Amino acid sequence: MAKKQKKLIVGNWKMNPVSITEAKSLAVGVKRSMKNVKKTNVVLCPPFVYLSLLSSIPTNTLFLGAQNAHAEEFGSFTGEVSFNSLSQFKVSFVIIGHSERRKMGETDEIVNQKVRSVVTDGMAAIICVGESTRDHNGDYLGFIKNQILSALKDVPKKLLNHVVVAYEPIWAIGAKEAMTPRDLHEMSIYIKKVLKDYAGTLADDIRILYGGSVDRVNADSLVRDGNVSGLLIGRQSLKAKDFVEIIKLIDSI
Ligand code: PGA
Repeated sequence: MAKKQKKLIVGNWKMNPVSITEAKSLAVGVKRSMKNVKKTNVVLCPPFVYLSLLSSIPTNTLFLGAQNAHAEEFGSFTGEVSFNSLSQFKVSFVIIGHSERRKMGETDEIVNQKVRSVVTDGMAAIICVGESTRDHNGDYLGFIKNQILSALKDVPKKLLNHVVVAYEPIWAIGAKEAMTPRDLHEMSIYIKKVLKDYAGTLADDIRILYGGSVDRVNADSLVRDGNVSGLLIGRQSLKAKDFVEIIKLIDSI
């Protein structure tokens, strides 16, 4: 049986908020409410420009994450930020291959390069996978399998404990409704099987999260009935009160 792991909740702020003051008060608001949270780790992923400002935020349950980074250590890559630079700002997680980035041209190959750089740099990679539509033949299952296996290609197996897979069906991101916990349960079984076939018992260390229109009404059931280890949350991570309410719900599972 897999060891009991802490739940993981990731707040993906995307390109929000627009002011330093709001960024600070959001992070501080979450931190303040984390005192009684015991079984859940939380990661805040602000835009790059706020990371240095928030370097006093991390604790042993609250972490800072980045939304992206470049796979190379340094060099002529205008507008990019390297993983090495991020690690100086107490960043311990990096979201890789979010569908919004894949839409801007990030390929499976680029995702794989980034995953390898992140884990060898000692940070954890949150690899996003997800189909844009579902077809009756179930071809989306093969698509997800391929996204996972290509992201993990040549990642040293002993570093798989630095990997988190976030299943985010694109049709459920920024939508009105999340996927149903029942459908999520099927997907989480499938993803666990893909990982198990690939890495055997080492796959037990890889947490699977769900993302896409999570809110305080559906959060509990998605985790409990969907059989995932946590959530990746966009819009609902932008108000400390709502986000904290979700964290507490999950912590009480
Ligand atoms: P959402 O975003 O929670 O606003 O749907 C999730 C995501 O894109 O990671």
